[in-house]
Amino acid sequence: MEYKKVTPGISEELRKIFGDRNVLTEVEKMEPYASDEAGKQYAHMPDVVVKAENEEQIARLMELANREHIPVTPRGAGSGLAGAAVPLYGGIVLSVEKMNRILEIDEDNMVAVCEPGVVTNDLCKAVADKGLFYAGYPMSVEESYIGSNVATNAGGAKVIKYGSTRSHVLGLGCISPTGEKLVLGGKRRKETSGYSLLQLMIGSEGTLGIITNVIVNLIPPSNKTVDLLVPFANFDDAAKASSSIIRTTKVYPVTMEFMDIFSVRATTEYLNLPPLPAQDKAEAYLLFTLEGVDQDELDELAEKAGTACLEMGALDVFVASTRTESEKVWNIRISMPTALLEKWPHVLTGDVVVPRSETAEFMARTREIIKKYAKVQLEFHGHIGDGNIHSSLIDTGNRTDKEWIEFAEEAYGELCLLGSQLGGTVSGEHGIGLEKKSVLRQSLGEYPISLMRGIKKVFDPNDILNPGKIFDLK
Ligand code: LAC
Ligand code: ZN
Repeated sequence: MEYKKVTPGISEELRKIFGDRNVLTEVEKMEPYASDEAGKQYAHMPDVVVKAENEEQIARLMELANREHIPVTPRGAGSGLAGAAVPLYGGIVLSVEKMNRILEIDEDNMVAVCEPGVVTNDLCKAVADKGLFYAGYPMSVEESYIGSNVATNAGGAKVIKYGSTRSHVLGLGCISPTGEKLVLGGKRRKETSGYSLLQLMIGSEGTLGIITNVIVNLIPPSNKTVDLLVPFANFDDAAKASSSIIRTTKVYPVTMEFMDIFSVRATTEYLNLPPLPAQDKAEAYLLFTLEGVDQDELDELAEKAGTACLEMGALDVFVASTRTESEKVWNIRISMPTALLEKWPHVLTGDVVVPRSETAEFMARTREIIKKYAKVQLEFHGHIGDGNIHSSLIDTGNRTDKEWIEFAEEAYGELCLLGSQLGGTVSGEHGIGLEKKSVLRQSLGEYPISLMRGIKKVFDPNDILNPGKIFDLK
């Protein structure tokens, strides 16, 4: 696809729209906007970066971009893992980092209205101050933005009980790729009024519109929680325990996470923390959070889940009895992707999702598949309760960027195929971005992709907004 470059005249026009302070053209200042956490191997420099302060500016930007045929790539905090925020064809990066106000916490309707650049954890804290709870919990909660959580339909550790970001969004304000204002959903809780453009926008990775405000659902907080850390001497026992524990006990946890010993070691070393309990004997851990209305219920749930784990081969069950203990273990869990990315330059954090009952099989067969490749380390952590395990591929062979991209596509392609055979799909929560375009096409086939292309064309006839993401342009 041929796009026009940003000329000095266009930069001038952008300065009029956004103000001098919000337009970056120096290479060093633009560099951080060239890639996200998918890695530097996917980096592309933009011609210019603009920082929006309001919706009106974004509408004017899209009019200009269509008129001049210049691509626009929306960007949140840059913590995405699939390259969705990379300006593949150069052009303009539109950052929403300055649109970071919580506009309203409406206690009557139990909703919050935010600008897209609000850090998700800030939203969680602000609503907690009013005695309310936002149930979205991506692992990047302390850095990612609510607007980007919506754009990727972010998942995370609490999906098993509360659902992905999609489950928490009641409404969105957007600017369409052609600069039209769109209001989708609202504070209301029901809607059967034609096709759901709201649901289409959620998870569209910035290809169908730019989110300018988000209305999220809030709920009353649960009264009590407890975390259980459960080491297993045997990897397969831990993997198999996840679905059988839920089936046999009917205890439905808020989180059920898996961490293999490689990820635990890498992260405790990275954080400079002492080992976790039983770290010398364990091949894997499960980490549960349980919620109960009172201490009695919580004790009963913990007892049931703990006993079931021991029956399934757990070495022990450690109850995090203080907030500090819980924070310590969750810090390790949350820091896993960063620990890997800091240590190795090439990491593909896979997020194939399968039905929960197939997760152990998926992990066992993944280990077999990856054995045949040289110079790659396999690591597993993630949301085993959702069947969404991060099978990360780590380059231990100093490949070039190009070699790594080719290798990762081939090897991850095999895992995606396996996932599909087991009733799964290529991405449970990180999205497709740049990184998984070819595996998505292989896994879905041409017809669904052609439907997506058709939808894109209706919203964005000139292919201006985040082109070349999810699928290739034709
Ligand atoms: C996590 C990120 C990779 O769960 O999704 O750690
Ligand atoms: Zn995850």
